[in-house]
Amino acid sequence: MPTALIIGASRGIGLGLTAELIARGWQVVATHRSAAPELVATGATTAVVDMDDAESVAALAAAHAGTMFDHILINAGISSTPTASTTDKDNVTKLFWTNAIAPIRAARILLPLVKDGGSIGFMTSILGTVGGRQHGYAELYSASKAALNSLTRGFAVQDVGSRNIAVINFHPGWVKTDMGGDGADIDVATSVQGLATQIETVKPPGQHYIDYTGKTIPW
Ligand SMILES: NC(=O)c1ccc[n+]([C@@H]2O[C@H](COP(=O)([O-])OP(=O)(O)OC[C@H]3O[C@@H](n4cnc5c(N)ncnc54)[C@H](OP(=O)(O)O)[C@@H]3O)[C@@H](O)[C@H]2O)c1
Repeated sequence: MPTALIIGASRGIGLGLTAELIARGWQVVATHRSAAPELVATGATTAVVDMDDAESVAALAAAHAGTMFDHILINAGISSTPTASTTDKDNVTKLFWTNAIAPIRAARILLPLVKDGGSIGFMTSILGTVGGRQHGYAELYSASKAALNSLTRGFAVQDVGSRNIAVINFHPGWVKTDMGGDGADIDVATSVQGLATQIETVKPPGQHYIDYTGKTIPW
């Protein structure tokens, strides 16, 4: 039975993906911060983790020492509407901490739990592309995901190195969640079915920046 660990699964895409992988026969450990009855109802093994706190992630790693996962997904993230001109230091610190710094710190702590031949995923966004960006939409959120993309490039080379592990930067589509809003393009089911198929499709070692359909996104 393949195994996955998902960080940030109380609602939205993380919750949907947990349920989808379990429906496909995976065993899933999924994390939340506060009460998450819908997550518990999926049948996942649940754990309380605040990704912003490296000690919280380290406690999770210690609790699962010896378990080797086929896939670990760092999914947690937050949005932000102010622009560079209207934000303040606290808001931008929180945004970049949660969307860029905390995911890399978590990945470094959890990497020893990824099986050879497995993969580690980051939920970035198509908004994190620099080369493909031709608009100014959501500039700070986009910059935080671009920062995450940049940090994952270093992580893939420096931390994963020659291990037989693929690093996957995912864009889930524009999804109807609390973050994506009701006007988004696709529902959670469509996104997570695509993401689950991409996770199940063995990727060669190296780094891949793809959307939920498997389409490559320019860095
Ligand atoms: N929705 C979209 O259209 C879209 C598009 C591109 C990328 N994304 C990315 O996809 C990911 C999931 O988005 P979503 O739409 O499902 O968002 P969402 O509905 O707002 O859910 C966000 C999830 O992240 C968790 N989270 C946030 N900060 C956390 C922290 N410090 N520690 C642990 N968990 C934390 C939340 O937990 P709590 O319930 O405890 O707050 C929640 O489970 C995010 O990284 C987002 O940036 C989304």
